[in-house]
Amino acid sequence: MELLLLVALALLGVYLYVENVWLRRKYPPGPRAWPIVGNLRDLARGQHRVFAEWQLKYGDIFTVWLGSRPAVVLNGQDAVKEALQKHGDIFSSRPGLFLWRRTIRTKGKGIVTAPYSPEWKETRKVALTWLNTFGAGKQSLEPTIVQEAQDLVQVFKDKHGQPFDPTVPLSIAVSNVICSVVFGRRFNHDNERFSRVMELVSRYIRLSASAQALNVYPILRYIPSVRRKMEGVVTCADENRSFVIEIIQEHSETFDPNNIRDVIDGFLLEEHRGNRILSELPEDNIINVIRNLFAAGTDTTATTLRWALLYLVKNPDVQRKVQDEIDVKLGKQTPSMLLREHLPYTEATIREVQRIRTIAPSSLPHETTAPATILGHQIPAGTFLVPNLWSLHMDPKYWPDPERFDPTRFLEADGQLAPRTESFLPFSTGPRRCLGEQLAKFELFIFFTSLLQQFTFKLPEGAPPPDTQGICGIVLSPRPFQICAIPRV
Ligand code: HEM
Repeated sequence: MELLLLVALALLGVYLYVENVWLRRKYPPGPRAWPIVGNLRDLARGQHRVFAEWQLKYGDIFTVWLGSRPAVVLNGQDAVKEALQKHGDIFSSRPGLFLWRRTIRTKGKGIVTAPYSPEWKETRKVALTWLNTFGAGKQSLEPTIVQEAQDLVQVFKDKHGQPFDPTVPLSIAVSNVICSVVFGRRFNHDNERFSRVMELVSRYIRLSASAQALNVYPILRYIPSVRRKMEGVVTCADENRSFVIEIIQEHSETFDPNNIRDVIDGFLLEEHRGNRILSELPEDNIINVIRNLFAAGTDTTATTLRWALLYLVKNPDVQRKVQDEIDVKLGKQTPSMLLREHLPYTEATIREVQRIRTIAPSSLPHETTAPATILGHQIPAGTFLVPNLWSLHMDPKYWPDPERFDPTRFLEADGQLAPRTESFLPFSTGPRRCLGEQLAKFELFIFFTSLLQQFTFKLPEGAPPPDTQGICGIVLSPRPFQICAIPRV
């Protein structure tokens, strides 16, 4: 009996080895992977930084093993553009992830996690149409953003130059813009429910980073410490979903097809009109769409603004140049997108922040829908893909001494903004590129300019220099830090 067991185990071992060797030959070569854990141990050192080391060794396209799942990493602008732009129809699906399945809880997949399909295309198109209708990324939304920026300035003024963590006020201000467009309403900075929702969004992002192992080995959920993390993620997602469901219900009860108030009404109108594709999707699809817009529209822009404040306190000379430009070109005028071209150094500083600390260093995961060849590498259908945006922004060929913070990289010799920038894709590219790019650019410019027009930012007396490595989860965020906002008189 024992002998039989030993033979069975030996056969299983041989089978697993042969399967593994055979499987590996189908993918581009990469670092040596360990049985069961693959490359997970190395990746724990910080995915985008480890990828940078491997790119030097294995080239622009290599395979890493997330446990027993192969993931092809695309590095540098040639590989990323060839895959996501040129072969966008093949490289634009999303893999199924355990944590996504656990937290979505609706049948409808919304936009962010939906596979490449006619349903995703239509949902994305309708979302974009209604976002545009309500001014996202257009001049007509400017008064809303300006008002939020002024409220934010007041919140900062109320700190009277004392140290504070800017995370929650920034998130509320930014989120109120997407709330105005999507929910048709905003929330005061002292609204407890909304502050809690903001906290939940950032806790969700933090916890899901620490629970990533579940996407590789869902079985780990039976280990109590991992289970607690998973439950934390699910609780945050559930509370946020309830918040969104309540607002959608209020909209359904007061819906009037002749008075479309916001993006939620826009989606309800599509259903009312019997949109051929949307009406075939599960009824709860709208919940996920609205959650996607709300979450994607909040944390990304707010995190970029936090990085901006952090880099300005570390680089007071850059801060002073931005303020000088604002003083000369804008004076006491309210910031406006129409003035953006007159503030090239300010705009270049925002871009430099987006380059040096790419908030989505590995973008969102993609998946191939058919076999394809990229830069001579064959990639099978159904492959998990990591578009490594960090590698574009840290490529010394385009960005010499890439860790140096230098806004002039985006300027021409005459101080004007360079019309074209190579190796710079903070919003990704191709059919899946960020849906909120125009809105985010508007928000970043108006919030950033309003804050620098009014304050000089400093570290609290005696505080150590803030960490610039950040915490890498779904987004790369700075570690919590305190600043003083000194009013400029
Ligand atoms: C600085 C701000 C932002 C950055 C850097 C950013 C970046 C990104 C990136 C890298 C992706 C992944 C694209 C891909 O998979 O190839 C993405 C997707 C997405 N973003 Fe943004 N984003 C920002 C702001 C926003 C805002 C304000 C919205 C609100 C409408 C938004 C909505 C979305 C949506 C819905 C997707 C999923 C698109 C899809 O799967 O089809 N983002 N974003």
